[in-house]
Amino acid sequence: MKVLANVFHPGLAESRVIRLWADALEAAGVEVRRHTGEPLDHAAERAACESADRLLFVHPFHWYSAPWPLKQWIDQVLTGGWAYGGPDRLAGKPWRHAISVGAGAEEYEPGGSRRYSVEEFLRPFERTAAFCRAEYQTPFLFYGAGYRGDEDIRAAADELVDRLIR
Ligand SMILES: Cc1cc2nc3c(=O)[nH]c(=O)nc-3n(C[C@H](O)[C@H](O)[C@H](O)COP(=O)(O)O)c2cc1C
Repeated sequence: MKVLANVFHPGLAESRVIRLWADALEAAGVEVRRHTGEPLDHAAERAACESADRLLFVHPFHWYSAPWPLKQWIDQVLTGGWAYGGPDRLAGKPWRHAISVGAGAEEYEPGGSRRYSVEEFLRPFERTAAFCRAEYQTPFLFYGAGYRGDEDIRAAADELVDRLIR
């Protein structure tokens, strides 16, 4: 099972969580492609997706969504005649997000200050995957990134790698 991890972070060099996760995935033999907002080689992105059995989208939670390099990637890579409306190249491939969330889980629970769950905020991605006939999977969520210590971040990286390899 070949896993492709597309990593999206506009400030990856200063990242505590996502940078470490990307390195941990790579060390475990996963193909990691880091996107910080640079122009994309669309053909290379599509070829990487085609050769993968499973797609992982790794990013922080920014403004109740993904950071903009993921939107750039979706808009430019998932075009008609490739991702949908024809060969549907991602059809049947598992699609999972692994997300670092700044606030604690309780803030996203019913009655919490954020009002909606992270899963609800992710619906545009769920529907994007469905439109491409990919298999949207339950996201891997790491809450409280804003106050967690290095040990927790490393443990989450181990858990992410374990779940992928299992
Ligand atoms: C521009 C920006 C927007 C953010 N928006 C949210 C948000 O909507 N909800 C939240 O819980 N945390 C938010 N955060 C906190 C990030 O989720 C947190 O800093 C990140 O998960 C830490 O991962 P990193 O060390 O890889 O950057 C935001 C941070 C930034 C910089």
